[in-house]
Parts: sequence; C-alpha cells; structure tokens
Amino acid sequence: MSTSTILLSGTSNPSLASAVSSILKIPLGFIEITRFIDNECRVHILEDVKGKHVFVIQSLSAVADQHLVELCLIGQAAKSLGAGCLTAVIPWMGYSKQDKAFRKGEAVSAQLVAKFIEVAGFDAVMTIELHSENVVPFFRIPVMELSAHELLGASLKRLNLLGTIVVSPDTGGKSRSARFAKTVGLPIVYLEKDRDKVTGNVSVTGIKRDVRGKDVVIFDDIINTGATAIKTSQFLKSHGARRIFFLATHAVLAGDASVKLAASPIDRIVVTDTIVVPKEKRFEKLTIVSVASLLANAL
Ligand code: R5P
Repeated sequence: MSTSTILLSGTSNPSLASAVSSILKIPLGFIEITRFIDNECRVHILEDVKGKHVFVIQSLSAVADQHLVELCLIGQAAKSLGAGCLTAVIPWMGYSKQDKAFRKGEAVSAQLVAKFIEVAGFDAVMTIELHSENVVPFFRIPVMELSAHELLGASLKRLNLLGTIVVSPDTGGKSRSARFAKTVGLPIVYLEKDRDKVTGNVSVTGIKRDVRGKDVVIFDDIINTGATAIKTSQFLKSHGARRIFFLATHAVLAGDASVKLAASPIDRIVVTDTIVVPKEKRFEKLTIVSVASLLANAL
C-alpha cells in the first residue's frame, strides 16, 4: 500500500479496523465522530485525504441504521475534501437479509442501502460473504466480495474429526455450503428448513443422508437469533450425529442468542470478527477468528 492510502474507521468495529491498520502498518486517519444532544451523528475528518485512496471500514452491525448513516456521512465528508477514490469496506453488510420483498408492502431494504452508499460518494465496496447473490446487482459501483471459507475451514484442522460431513442448513445456502465443502474437501448433505415469514420460527423437515456416528460441520453465513443453529443441531443430534460444529461468517447474535446457543447440542461454534461480539455475548464454546488479514491482503 502506498502513502497515498488513508484508512478511516467508523465506530462499529474499531478493533477490526485497528487490526487491519497494524497489519498494513498504516495508522488509522484522524476522524471525530460525535453525536449532538439530540443523537444526530456528526462527522469531522481531520486528515489530508485530497487525491488519496480512502478506505472507510465500517460494519453495518447493530444499530445498523446508525452505522449506515455514519458511513455515508464519512463518505460525503471525504469526497468534500477531494478524496481521490473512496472505498467502503463493509465486513458485515447489514440489511442484506432484506434482499427482496418477502410480503407485498415490504421494502427491498438492501437495494435502498446500496443507493445510500452510492449517493454518499463511494466509488467501490469491499465486503465479506453477502447473504445473497441478489445484493451485488443493487450496486452500480464495483463490489468486491471476499470469502472467509478458508479461514473458517482452517479452524477444523485442530479438531480431529471423524467421518465428517458438511451440512447445509437450508436450500438458500446450498451453493455457499457446497463451495465451503469443496474448500475443505468434505462431502455435503442438505437439510430442508422452513421459516415462518411472520414469526421467524424455524423448523427442520428432513435430511437425505445418514449422519449416524458422524461429526457434522454445519456451515452458514449468519448466526442471527440462533434458531437455525439450534434447530438444525437438535435435529442432527436426534438423527445420531456424533459431534456438531457450527461455522458461520457473521455473528449477529441478536437478543439472547448466546444464552440459547450455549445450551444447545453444538460442541463448538466458530465465527469471525466481522461484527464485534461483546464480552457479555461470548461463551465457552464460541471461537472467534479474525478477518483482519483477509481484509488487509485485499486492500
Ligand atoms: C438464512 O437464510 C441464513 O442463511 C441464516 O441461516 C439465518 O439468517 C440465520 O438466522 P437465525 O440465526 O435467526 O436462524
């Protein structure tokens, strides 16, 4: 990376931004992000960004709306200072689950979020494991999507697995899990899962392969409420699976997901740090691997 590169961090994932900055040996640029008494966000860049390539690292994690607005304000401020090229580095693309109107009258939120980012002045987006392939075409600027599959796969090496099989928790994630299975060189089986569009309740309806006595690795993009992880692990346990590992890129861990996951039949859960997992949401069987080097290499 050259001296004409500036790294800026929003407030959503400062530890990841610092880790990227240390790997690249480029200090994070000075930026003040404050809130007025009425909670409106105010951004002030104190760095000479004129003509430089500016990367803004910001996950759209909770509170996603606030982090999105912050990102857009940083973008606009950088452009107003004459930034040359402006890239939004969004490790977790919040709102990406809303990639279509699931019911009449719903917004296609991911599409609007893409527009916000473009209008703010960003020239490109770098992200990790989008929830669906529908999201990329919402952007008219280039989107580079990175994958944490190798990183997550590497965590399996230390586990001494037996007769292992990769399980895709739903048909929507079929191609993602298939790519992961190929990366780690393991066979794959697909579960049938239903989710109620109103309540969000998850039910697992079937599996087409015998998992008795096998170690299973369930691979998903997100752990949100934990319902998918819990229901699939209970289903696989009841079908005789030996040990259960759950790997996912993004640890949203909404509400009391951590408490429920800690009590689930899953032996180990491995996620990345695209989203900050606060201390109170960490639990013994949760391992967090960092995507800092993945991002640093791509930058
Ligand atoms: C579903 O399409 C996704 O790939 C994940 O399985 C889902 O978002 C996980 O959500 P939850 O943890 O709430 O079941």
